[in-house]
Amino acid sequence: MIDIHCHLLPGLDDGPADIDEAVALAKKLHSCGVHTVVATPHFRTGAWRPPIEDIDAAIACLKARLTEEGVDIEVIPGAEVGLVDAVELSKEELVALSFGKQGRYVLLEAPTLMPVEGIEQGIFRAQLSGPRAILAHPERLHAYQMKPERLASIFSSGVLVQLDARSLLGKEGREAKRAGQVMLRNGHVHFVGSDAHSCGRRYVDFQELAAYLTSLCGEAGAERLLKTNPAMLLDPESKGEFVSVASRRKKLLGLF
Ligand SMILES: [Fe+2]
Repeated sequence: MIDIHCHLLPGLDDGPADIDEAVALAKKLHSCGVHTVVATPHFRTGAWRPPIEDIDAAIACLKARLTEEGVDIEVIPGAEVGLVDAVELSKEELVALSFGKQGRYVLLEAPTLMPVEGIEQGIFRAQLSGPRAILAHPERLHAYQMKPERLASIFSSGVLVQLDARSLLGKEGREAKRAGQVMLRNGHVHFVGSDAHSCGRRYVDFQELAAYLTSLCGEAGAERLLKTNPAMLLDPESKGEFVSVASRRKKLLGLF
């Protein structure tokens, strides 16, 4: 399985405090079947906005430690870019923060209380010259919790959607769970990631997650959310024809 949203790098944001904690998180993810992690430290003004070179250095350092310790897990560079920052970044900066620095996909995080119109306009502006957007955990955003069906608008325009595992599992409150489940029922979801910050904070067991997603979306759906679609994000040869997943209570699979 591939985790496309994980605060695995130490000392850059509110993720692991040091490299030992980061290695522990990588080992734990690996032990439950994750072979690749996209490291997505926060990148937003007012909280955490590390120099891009620091992200690169943290990746190199962590990879060296994982090799030393024989942990067979791939770590791909990325970031969770704040939407307000994303609209102001240059194309080069967005490329440097994109998954695998390929310039194809970037994970965007909207402020929790931003209205839907602001989210839609921000994503549209960020994508004008930059990589295609993946919206991180819309089920945790107030506007989409009020009206999960509003996600249809950005979904239809080609924005990719990632839900947090813990929201679906009911560990982030009733509103997030309900919104996430409606989004899945509506077939508006492409990925589920952990958003883990350490072994204790927001960690999720991918075996438990895969079993839960299988119960909701069937084996093929769970595989698409945790394996096939994430693999397409990282494969430079892929054409980006993602298939979204819908839970069983509604018609399956809207082609994108
Ligand atoms: Fe995150």
